[in-house]
Amino acid sequence: NERELILAFETSCDETSVAVVENGNRILSNFVATQIKSHQRFGGVVPEVASRHHIEEITIGIQKALIEAQVTPAELTAVAVTYGPGLVGSLLIGVTAAKTFAFAHELPLIPVNHMAGHIYAARYVEPLVFPLLALLVSGGHTQIVYMKAANEFEIIGDTRDDAAGEAYDKVGRVLGIAYPAGKELDRLAHLGQDTFKFPRAMIHEANYDFSFSGLKSAFINTVHNADQRGETLNRENLAASFQASVVDVLVGKVIAAVQRYPVQQLVLAGGVAANHGLREALSEQLPKVVPNTRLVAAPLALCGDNAAMVGAAAHVALAQGVRADMTLNADPSLEF
Ligand code: KG4
Ligand code: ZN
Repeated sequence: NERELILAFETSCDETSVAVVENGNRILSNFVATQIKSHQRFGGVVPEVASRHHIEEITIGIQKALIEAQVTPAELTAVAVTYGPGLVGSLLIGVTAAKTFAFAHELPLIPVNHMAGHIYAARYVEPLVFPLLALLVSGGHTQIVYMKAANEFEIIGDTRDDAAGEAYDKVGRVLGIAYPAGKELDRLAHLGQDTFKFPRAMIHEANYDFSFSGLKSAFINTVHNADQRGETLNRENLAASFQASVVDVLVGKVIAAVQRYPVQQLVLAGGVAANHGLREALSEQLPKVVPNTRLVAAPLALCGDNAAMVGAAAHVALAQGVRADMTLNADPSLEF
């Protein structure tokens, strides 16, 4: 059978997603049910609410993904699933659905690390060439990952405190922006100027680590102090200043990493990779400093959590013989 068809599941957080991926590089379907509306009034993801939604959506997701792809279970090659990191109750729904489906249809089961999935979203832009570096920026992670070969991950930089997306969401809350605030702050940032000059933490340190909690505090204090004086600060300039600080640090550190680890590709992936300021700054600065390294940004539609990225990662794992059996369990703190 030349047509390799993987049914992929992703339920690590607040997106229920099921996809059918052909040969690891073609999306036949990518069903995504987002639960954002249910969590917004709590200002963040409520784990119990998330798992209940996953239960409600997962069977519909399987049916929709198969119908849209025009694929029957008998035509599938394998089943893949994110088993960590993420919320345990959310992960368990995907893992249980994938195990059940694989068992019922006698298909191999492929376990996928959520963060590996984010990186492999870039596979839909062009084939990945190793070694490569990846800047992984999401709601839970901010990492620079060196991949010596397919499916080999070495974290060379990490956040010491908040993840970039987490900082966006917390700062957005202070401005009354609904969760998740990244996209709206990104939009506001483009309408303002970097007038506040917030700190750029660790930017000159000789490592590839990040820290965003100082920036978050500086932002929150600035807003609260103005409130106490009865002043209202310009939202666009606040957003632009916050974003300029985040982007300067991310771009500065990752370019330093590329200088130290020469690679052909720098992959940009994860929810925050959708950020326009970050994409623009990297695509402008990277060629100037390291012209031999190409920026491969995950497609905008595949930056957030989705199962198509899990299918792309699973294609590589399948070829390498990676398999799980019916004892596969969710691992909320899974690392590379
Ligand atoms: O990868 P993702 O969908 O879920 C996790 O694995 O965490 O990332 C979600 C994060 C949220 O914090 C959200 O605010 C952020 O990505 N995000 C953005 C943008 N779009 C989403 N942050 C900055 N700019 C954006 N345009
Ligand atoms: Zn994610």
